Amino acid sequence: MSRVRQILDMNAFDAATGGDGAVKRRLDNLGAASVLFYREPIEMVAARGAWMEARDGTRYLDFYNNVPSVGHSHPEVVAAISAQVARLNTNTRYLVEIVDDYLEALKAKLPVDLSNVVMTCSGSEANDLAIRVARAVSGRHGLIVTDTAYHGNTALVTEASPSALRRSPLPDHVVTVPAPGEAAYGGEDIAGGLRAAVVAAMQTLEARGHGIAAFLADSIFSSDGIFADPAGFLQPAVKTVQAAGGLYIADEVQPGFGRTGDAFWGYERHGLAPDIVTMGKPMGNGFPMAGMAARPEHLAMFCEDVGYFNTFGGNPVAAAAGRAVLRVIAAEGLQENARRVGAHLKAGLAQIAAGSDRVTAVRGAGLFLGVDLGAQDGSGAPDADYTVQVIDRMRDARVLIGAAGQFGATLKVRPPLCLSMAEAERFLEAFAGAVSD
Ligand SMILES: Cc1ncc(COP(=O)(O)O)c(C=O)c1O
Repeated sequence: MSRVRQILDMNAFDAATGGDGAVKRRLDNLGAASVLFYREPIEMVAARGAWMEARDGTRYLDFYNNVPSVGHSHPEVVAAISAQVARLNTNTRYLVEIVDDYLEALKAKLPVDLSNVVMTCSGSEANDLAIRVARAVSGRHGLIVTDTAYHGNTALVTEASPSALRRSPLPDHVVTVPAPGEAAYGGEDIAGGLRAAVVAAMQTLEARGHGIAAFLADSIFSSDGIFADPAGFLQPAVKTVQAAGGLYIADEVQPGFGRTGDAFWGYERHGLAPDIVTMGKPMGNGFPMAGMAARPEHLAMFCEDVGYFNTFGGNPVAAAAGRAVLRVIAAEGLQENARRVGAHLKAGLAQIAAGSDRVTAVRGAGLFLGVDLGAQDGSGAPDADYTVQVIDRMRDARVLIGAAGQFGATLKVRPPLCLSMAEAERFLEAFAGAVSD
């Protein structure tokens, strides 16, 4: 029987086993909040493009990290950050030209009606604020998220992140729906199944006296195990929520900034008009920055009641980083690269799956793919232990990759957007070797 896994526990070092050297030092410093990848953690010293370098000189192809999305230590981003931090870094209570230059460049990528952007330092803060705005606008309290969603680490957002909760049950005001996979919705009508589940969740929230404030969804369903197709399946559910006065918060922390190849934002693949968009991770290519875009009238309703200020959010160095990221995505055609190289990867993975009992499904869009791994008996049951084995074998083959999904048996294929065809080939070769038994 497959066991539900918590997202931070997947392929993590088990602190109970102790450690020495750099591992012990880290455990002594971070204690129980320490999360290290791999049963034998890797000490990293440098990175460039799609490659990371460990202290022992080993170079790894990075298929896990979607933060340095335009490539690790991209020279243009490094130069922009360095120049700005040498000139001026302060908060948004002063007028600084680069901040508004950046916000206008970002807004050019967003729906015109979402013309106010609040800058934060993390995706968690952005989602926290989004939920508070949704509650102020709707006058209601309830939230709908997917079964294995992760939306961040503040108290409010952790409550709406089933995948982060080890023991505590979800609070009364959060109701989950299954992630939009074929298994959950019978294969045929994912859009209709998801809509029906959302309607039932809204009824539950109503019966509990909360009503629907927001449907908060990551349109690539990253921690749920990656569900991208058929594009458009989110529409009926989202429209139903909006028709009932709830808000659709598009959590673009994972799929945003061109990763899905088809569109700059994940929700665009589904033809949706979000009420709020939250973003983070790849936004500054590693410089900590995130944001929430909303309608001016919605933000005003929230601010009537509560003042919002974020000391570091949207500072000039963040703006410089963010502006450089947008420029690099455009100048290097990275969204198109994600589409082209992602399609090649997906086809290669499908070919490997066709010859393997263990690789049970390949899904995703652009450079965000999910690969399900199943039990040896050919039953197709998710096999988390085997997934960890494959992750370790990939590491031996110098490729870094992680897991996701309810049972921790989905490989998350998520390299930087600058990935070349040759690097994709290298990955496919390593993967074919890792699942060859
Ligand atoms: C979909 C999604 N939303 C929000 C967050 C939270 O972002 P952060 O870690 O920057 O607070 C994450 C982080 O993994 C995420 O995957």
